[in-house]
Amino acid sequence: MSPGKVDHINASTRYCAVLGHPIAHSASPAMQNAGLGMLGLNWRYLAADVPPAGLKAAIQGAQALGFIGLNLTVPHKLRALRIVDVVDPDARKWGAINTIVFETRDPAGRWVSVGSCPPAPGAAVRSHGYNTDADAIIQALQEGFGWRSLRGATVLLLGAGGAAQAAALRLAQEGIKELWLVNRTAARRRTLQRMVARQYPRCVFGMGYPDKTVDLVINATSLGLKRGDPVAIHLPWLKAHRPPRVFDMIYRPRETPLLRHAAKLGCQTVNGMGMLLYQGARALELWTGRPAPVAAMRRALEAHLYV
Ligand code: ATR
Repeated sequence: MSPGKVDHINASTRYCAVLGHPIAHSASPAMQNAGLGMLGLNWRYLAADVPPAGLKAAIQGAQALGFIGLNLTVPHKLRALRIVDVVDPDARKWGAINTIVFETRDPAGRWVSVGSCPPAPGAAVRSHGYNTDADAIIQALQEGFGWRSLRGATVLLLGAGGAAQAAALRLAQEGIKELWLVNRTAARRRTLQRMVARQYPRCVFGMGYPDKTVDLVINATSLGLKRGDPVAIHLPWLKAHRPPRVFDMIYRPRETPLLRHAAKLGCQTVNGMGMLLYQGARALELWTGRPAPVAAMRRALEAHLYV
């Protein structure tokens, strides 16, 4: 198949998929199918609603059907750690898996993606779990804010769930100086603090809202996803301290209530579309072994989400 031309599905078509619960909102099929088309691959990217109790069977089923790989979204990223055959060291560090590559041995005996080396009949295939979310956060922050290095930054992180955990650990690895954590459930916030402190003892912690501004605010809660959600941040704090940069992991609507308030106060604002793009681009590279067509994937996302 030539780049940009999409064949009809036929007996040679291979598959990837995103598993989540719910999944109907996912923009990944639009983005990944655009990428696959640009690469000229006769592959398709599907979406499947899989409740947590069915995750193991779904992963094993995809493996048995010869799928190239999977993405995992809410609520599967933590549970998958206990299901895949091999966990990439970075995914182990961030405590979550969002990408699975099905692998077989190449003629030299190395494990490689079945997307780059179709398995011989009867050959062993294994599932290898990766995390492409954590690096995508850093890439999205650097690109979105035109910010070369986060080293030494002070950050206020809203949320303590799976997405916040990956962000906190990856930001600490990046060398931020201070991390302020705010979460509705205090116990979860304390667990996250302990986790980051154990791995990155040099990072200084603050609990709750700081009595000063910060270099960056990140919303990693789900507040803003649903119409009518309250604003994810304590508005008097935002008004009093006007942080220079506000990042919302949510990408739909394009301007979340948090970003709308922040922009009105003169803060630079970025939504989570870049993060979605870069985690997807890296997953595609792991499956294909080729550079991802990022521009085409971005265009497809923009069209799917905002037009
Ligand atoms: P994800 O994997 O996307 O991070 P999650 O682990 O369910 O999903 O985490 C969701 C985050 O949004 C949590 O920080 C959650 O706060 P709790 O730890 O108190 O549950 C936060 N969140 C969800 N609904 C919220 C609400 N109505 N008010 C405040 N925080 C909320």
